[in-house]
Amino acid sequence: MNPLRKKKFYQLSISDRQKYLVNNSDLSMDDLNTLKGHLPDNIADSMIENFICVYGVPLGIAQHFIVNGREVFIPMAIEEPSVIAGASYMAKLARSSGGFHASSSAPEMIGQIQLLDIDNFDETLIILNEHKNDILAEASKVNSSMVKRGGGPRDLKYRLIPESAIGPFIVMHLIYDVRDAMGANAINTVVEHLRPFIENLTGGRVHLTILSNLTDTRLVSASVIIQNKELSFENFTGEQVRDGIIEAWAFAEADPYRAATHNKGIMNGVDAVALATGNDWRGIEAGAHAYAARSGRYTSLSTWEIDTNGHLQGTLEMPMAVGVVGGSTRINPIAKTCIKLMQIKTASDLAEIMAAVGLAQNLAALRAFATEGIQKGHMALHARKKT
Ligand code: MEV
Repeated sequence: MNPLRKKKFYQLSISDRQKYLVNNSDLSMDDLNTLKGHLPDNIADSMIENFICVYGVPLGIAQHFIVNGREVFIPMAIEEPSVIAGASYMAKLARSSGGFHASSSAPEMIGQIQLLDIDNFDETLIILNEHKNDILAEASKVNSSMVKRGGGPRDLKYRLIPESAIGPFIVMHLIYDVRDAMGANAINTVVEHLRPFIENLTGGRVHLTILSNLTDTRLVSASVIIQNKELSFENFTGEQVRDGIIEAWAFAEADPYRAATHNKGIMNGVDAVALATGNDWRGIEAGAHAYAARSGRYTSLSTWEIDTNGHLQGTLEMPMAVGVVGGSTRINPIAKTCIKLMQIKTASDLAEIMAAVGLAQNLAALRAFATEGIQKGHMALHARKKT
């Protein structure tokens, strides 16, 4: 029998874990060598200014995930112990009910244009509305390769900000499909391109042109059912753990102080995959927390409840501006290899996997609260740092 199959993934040596991945995924030996190496100095030097060295972050693989019916190895780059173990464990509990299900909206980002020095707001809004198609046509003149791939401008929205430190002004939102890119560069290029066009049209002055990280037009949602039999633990019945998880979630739902920490647990999973795949985790963080406050009160990004069969059901909805082409995803060979490992082709595939990991991570923390407490499980893994 193949000795790699006798042991669990975490029990294998580092090199056997690497071999296991090559034997069980599309990764080649060359890809493995890429993972073993670091980001080369010449590439790193081309990415930022004043480069002096590559800073290391451990990258591990979360196991047992089924997302939309497909087994997937999840690469996670993170310095915090217990995150990968927690996600893997929850993914295992989800398997008996089919794993995680996730879906995403079209990859539409928002580009903002701040329009100042307007004499007549009503008239300007009418002009902008009347020339909506002209503005969209002008917007489609840039980013030609993205437009060729089916992306490009989709809609324009206008808002009057009635009160601000500088008085009232108009904000335009260009809704723009960025296909499989994260899209920040494309968005910033197009809104900047529109500056003279909008100024000529309105007689106003365009000040800021920049993407919004509150990408509530680019949402992902993930859901999972965990059967009660999977939740029973030591002296706790499955029903007790289920109810304890819902009680812990209700705290976050009601209280922003708790919600911040609860959502941080979700982002432990989301950010780790973002980093492993070369995505902008700060943008995702900004979008997540702004979305969590969209009602005017900051709350939980996830929901935990009892489903019609009496089992635990969790859902997570959040903005997810990620790409599988362009940016550092294209330049960083390790990020490219991580994307290959997940066998994904589109930004939506990646967003859906990331939402599943965020939900799993959230469940890991809530389950710990409902059973042995966060410190016991967490600290056992922290202790490994000393060995
Ligand atoms: C620690 O990194 C994350 C947790 O604090 C999340 C939570 O409290 O839900 C454990």
